[in-house]
Amino acid sequence: MQKRGRSFIGAAVTLRDEPREPEIIHQDFNSMTPENAMKWESTEPSRNNFTLTDADRYAEFAKKNHLQLHCHTLVWHSQLPLWVSEGGFDNKTLIGVMENHIKKLVTRYRGVCTRWDVVNEALNEDGTYRKSVWYDTIGESFIPIAFSLVRKYDKKVQLFYNDYNLEYNNEKTAGAKRIVKLIKSHGVEIDGVGYQAHLASEATPTAPGAAPDQKTLEAAFHATADEGVNVIYTEIDLRMNTPATADKLKVQAAAYERVAKSCLAVKRCMGMTVWGISDKYSWIPGVFTGEGAALLWDENYNKKPAYAGFLKGI
Ligand code: XIL
Repeated sequence: MQKRGRSFIGAAVTLRDEPREPEIIHQDFNSMTPENAMKWESTEPSRNNFTLTDADRYAEFAKKNHLQLHCHTLVWHSQLPLWVSEGGFDNKTLIGVMENHIKKLVTRYRGVCTRWDVVNEALNEDGTYRKSVWYDTIGESFIPIAFSLVRKYDKKVQLFYNDYNLEYNNEKTAGAKRIVKLIKSHGVEIDGVGYQAHLASEATPTAPGAAPDQKTLEAAFHATADEGVNVIYTEIDLRMNTPATADKLKVQAAAYERVAKSCLAVKRCMGMTVWGISDKYSWIPGVFTGEGAALLWDENYNKKPAYAGFLKGI
């Protein structure tokens, strides 16, 4: 898989005993995102007790294989230990907790992380802010504060806001645009917005949850890119109702093609990451009942029609 003038084609990675995975990464990707290893629950399970052995393996793997590392993620409501979410910290203390975490992670992986997902999933579907310990305690300024803290400890890494369902160019997309403006209004840098692209691969792009048509995908990118930031797809998987059939795989291939094309059609789209390699380990069946088969390789590591579809798009 080539990158056609864009900066990267990536995959979310969980390092596991599957020899095909390093081969595929080597052949098809130049970027990786640790699927879970850099999340708060993995890296600071109790206060100021940093457990970074696993995250270190990903950093080493990226370095050794000359891969860009998309570091994921610092400030999020999920996979956040209870000592943070239910710690009852006041505003000032919680900002201190945030800074301590950011300082440790960002400093340790300085020079290895190409991008950081600084804040993940701060929005509700209607574009308002999601309730979380961050928002409820600090207010919307938790977002610019987080971005300024990452910049404080790494002058170079690219700073991203990341969320799902931004692909429809609706209220939630407008919320992401508002976040870009908010960060900038504080005089703080943001390099880009990550569109997760966890979407359904329906034949009808207007079906609920479906990957929309290419024009809508492009318009959704422009909503934030026109504010002067880059855009990327960070977690692409295009699920279907299982079991997969030849027809559904064809529909999926077309969906992958239009998603890829939408990135190539937008100048500020810098790259794309798929959320895993093989359907064997995708998170989708565990979360979306009756759905799966969302990735480019099947459970036996054979390339699916989606692989060719995606390739056609780039
Ligand atoms: C998922 C992982 O794939 C799973 O292994 C884990 O159990 C839960 O999280 N949005 C994100 C990702 O930003 O971190 C999530 O990853 C998928 C949704």
